[in-house]
Amino acid sequence: MPGMGNSLRAAALLAFVVLSILVSLLISGVQQFGARTSHSSNAGLAGDETEAASLRGELIYHLNERRKEIIPLLLPDDDVENGVPRETLHSSRLDSILDHNLWNEITHGSRKAHMDEMGCDSLVGMQAVEILGSGYTKLVVKVKLAGGQSVALKLVNEQGIDMGKCLEDFKDPHGCRELVSYKLKKEIVLLQRLQHPNVIKLKGHCAGDVGGEGGRITVILEQGSPLQMIQLLQSPWEDRFRVCLDLVRLLHFLSQSTLGSVALLDFQPRQFVTVSGELKLTDLDDASAEETACQTNTDCTLQFPHRNFTLPCSAQGECEGLNEKRNIYNAYRYFFTYLLPHQAPPGLAHLVDHIMNSTGDLKADINQTLEAFEHILHLYKSGLHLDNLPSSIIKDYTMMRGMGTSGNVEYRCWPSYSPQGCVLSVHSAREAAYVCNSHSQCNSFTLTGQKTWTGRLLASFRSRFSHLVPDGMSEVYVKKTNAPESSIV
Ligand SMILES: Nc1ncnc2c1ncn2[C@@H]1O[C@H](COP(=O)(O)OP(=O)(O)O)[C@@H](O)[C@H]1O
Ligand SMILES: [Mg+2]
Repeated sequence: MPGMGNSLRAAALLAFVVLSILVSLLISGVQQFGARTSHSSNAGLAGDETEAASLRGELIYHLNERRKEIIPLLLPDDDVENGVPRETLHSSRLDSILDHNLWNEITHGSRKAHMDEMGCDSLVGMQAVEILGSGYTKLVVKVKLAGGQSVALKLVNEQGIDMGKCLEDFKDPHGCRELVSYKLKKEIVLLQRLQHPNVIKLKGHCAGDVGGEGGRITVILEQGSPLQMIQLLQSPWEDRFRVCLDLVRLLHFLSQSTLGSVALLDFQPRQFVTVSGELKLTDLDDASAEETACQTNTDCTLQFPHRNFTLPCSAQGECEGLNEKRNIYNAYRYFFTYLLPHQAPPGLAHLVDHIMNSTGDLKADINQTLEAFEHILHLYKSGLHLDNLPSSIIKDYTMMRGMGTSGNVEYRCWPSYSPQGCVLSVHSAREAAYVCNSHSQCNSFTLTGQKTWTGRLLASFRSRFSHLVPDGMSEVYVKKTNAPESSIV
């Protein structure tokens, strides 16, 4: 069976990659093996045996708890759509209808259930490139596959807090790896159930169920770049707005997913990456679709470090919209406050303020919040927010089509798309003329034909240039009053 041989080779390769990562981190697994050996050498003592048995029992209990957490997520979507809420299904009924295929696939290997999924075979001949990130639970490595494609692999973080805590409690590396692997398994199920442009794409997974090493799971994901808040704070408003809009689109999707309204319990910028400027959620193991049961409104309190909110308890005994509201307030406190108001275009500032107030006080639900964001996007793309710019302003400039400039004397502005000069996005030549008039150093600008994600034009502003050069796509605009000064020959 060539498939089987490949799987074995892939598993061996994977083991090698994991090993080299550990070595590169200057950490060795010796202590773990040490812990295991000393544990077994002492096992002859009756007291220790009892203790070991009780630890083992406790670990099994936790393994079962983790498994139970995943089971409701394995329900085929049809059943939920037929009006059977996940949480009301009796456990025996649950067992008979849940998606056993998916579970077996995750636990025992990679069956190509979905045509586009990669499995253990795809990892044969891969090369580890770099560590992309790590958290309490997982380690993420960039690898180049044999075909040349780069992907991100998620593995159990052997040095993570989760693993460390488990080893301290149970002193069982194998069992602990299995316990922590449940988080990866949960993530695989959620990535399959919650497919959306703002959720990282699951490309496949490989369960290295070889040589008794059950529980070793590798998730294959599209590769992104970890979200760098500091970098984002220095980027143009348009890019910061994009991250917030993507987040709101994601939260809108999560609020009405087939699993129910999903809350992100560990909501932090580090749980997101960007792929070509688009925001994607990558850490889903702390996502929960569970609703909070209540008797009175006081059972429905959302607590944050500086703010508390009390939500209504419904007649059905559930806190209404708690998951959705939790996500909105987290989006406000971790993203909007840092990214949205600063340098918003003046024509949109009142709408941005409105979003800040309605999300910061939890007055708007996710539908209203998404509408407000899409409205801003529409105005920004269409240039309707610029209505009060005088149209005569462009008459101060001479335009040369099909031309670029050379011998430029640049100046810097902030936040510029280019670090050397002043490159900003504009809706039209009229807005560019307005910007140039407001910069004392500016005497000419070029519309390059390049566009940003919203379709706005990139304009490059400068003090002077020495020559005009033919350039099919560009248009050069020179201030008329200064035209004689600039040495156009
Ligand atoms: N697909 C990816 N591409 C690039 N980096 C990623 C990707 N997925 C995760 N990361 C990085 O790896 C880190 C750890 O992954 P995460 O799933 O958050 O693990 P944990 O559950 O341990 O927090 C993330 O904070 C992120 O920076
Ligand atoms: Mg994380």
